[in-house]
Amino acid sequence: MLSIETRALTKNFSVPEKDPGLWGSVKSLFNRRWRQVRAVDSVSIKIEEGELVGFLGANGAGKTTTLKMLSGLLTPTSGEAVVLGHVPWKRKSAFQRRFSLVMGQRTQLWWEIPALETFRLNQVIYGLSDADYKKNLGELVDLLELQDCLSVPVKKLSLGQRMRAELAAALLHKPALLLLDEPTLGLDVVMQQKVRAFIKEYNKRNKATILLTSHNMDDVVELCPRVIVIELGRLLYDGPLAQLVSRYADHKIIRAVFDREVKAADLAHLGTVVEDGGLKAVLQVPRGQVSARAAKLLQGFPVVDLTIDEVPIDDIVRRIFTHK
Ligand SMILES: Nc1ncnc2c1ncn2[C@@H]1O[C@H](COP(=O)(O)OP(=O)(O)OP(=O)(O)O)[C@@H](O)[C@H]1O
Ligand SMILES: [Mg+2]
Repeated sequence: MLSIETRALTKNFSVPEKDPGLWGSVKSLFNRRWRQVRAVDSVSIKIEEGELVGFLGANGAGKTTTLKMLSGLLTPTSGEAVVLGHVPWKRKSAFQRRFSLVMGQRTQLWWEIPALETFRLNQVIYGLSDADYKKNLGELVDLLELQDCLSVPVKKLSLGQRMRAELAAALLHKPALLLLDEPTLGLDVVMQQKVRAFIKEYNKRNKATILLTSHNMDDVVELCPRVIVIELGRLLYDGPLAQLVSRYADHKIIRAVFDREVKAADLAHLGTVVEDGGLKAVLQVPRGQVSARAAKLLQGFPVVDLTIDEVPIDDIVRRIFTHK
């Protein structure tokens, strides 16, 4: 069963145009001109029930805007979406009960009161029986190690504790779909790992569909077998994380070990020397040139060992995040 299906989903925003400088600002107060920004441009995707998909792209690529349309917070300019069998922006309660959107930089918890009170409120909002509430809460508190955080006012929690409480609040009603916008933003490494482990476990235990955006490569590499990449609102790639490499990497890595010292300068004509240590060297070589360059290396230098590797997936993802 499909969890998410979009067809040519598109969102334009009108933004005021202004001339530079103070005078420009003053003028634009009286004489507004508007410009259309296309934040999401004809995006068509299909996500099956139970998938865990990474949604990648540089700043401003249109990720959050897409998630907002999928959760019904924004109505698209054109195009269609069916999420859990519903058109999200119709905001039917039958739909609202079955998904959650968690934004790393925004909170649904009440600041002044303990998280437990927000949880109780959510029990009422989602119409959970006492038995279900207790069972789900127990499970989440366990998985997220929230025992000590429940009765403390939210404003006194650390960012990591708050994020975990946030996840608990979002998942009390066991949504079938979880949209996560930067779930590990600002967390330290240990906390990132905990949140990641939890996401993985929640996906597995409940066969929940999870779509997550992140600028954190570890999130992507550890969690997402499939990734969707957008750039300037347009779909750029949709497929296995592993295949991103062949799509994006225009070069390969040649590693050579020598039995005599070789100067980096002497290797420069064979590729970009990224590492050299006299007795070994690492070269970046354009994909199409790999065998020719490796042959030259073998002929012209005292090579005792040689390997050819793909560019690490980290580098590829980093390039996607930074517009290459
Ligand atoms: N409410 C809005 N009004 C006008 N423009 C907007 C609005 N929301 C987003 N945009 C613009 O739409 C584009 C996409 O923004 P969006 O927030 O979806 O990007 P993103 O991929 O989530 O980026 P980031 O990685 O920085 O979170 C950007 O150019 C942004 O400035
Ligand atoms: Mg965003």
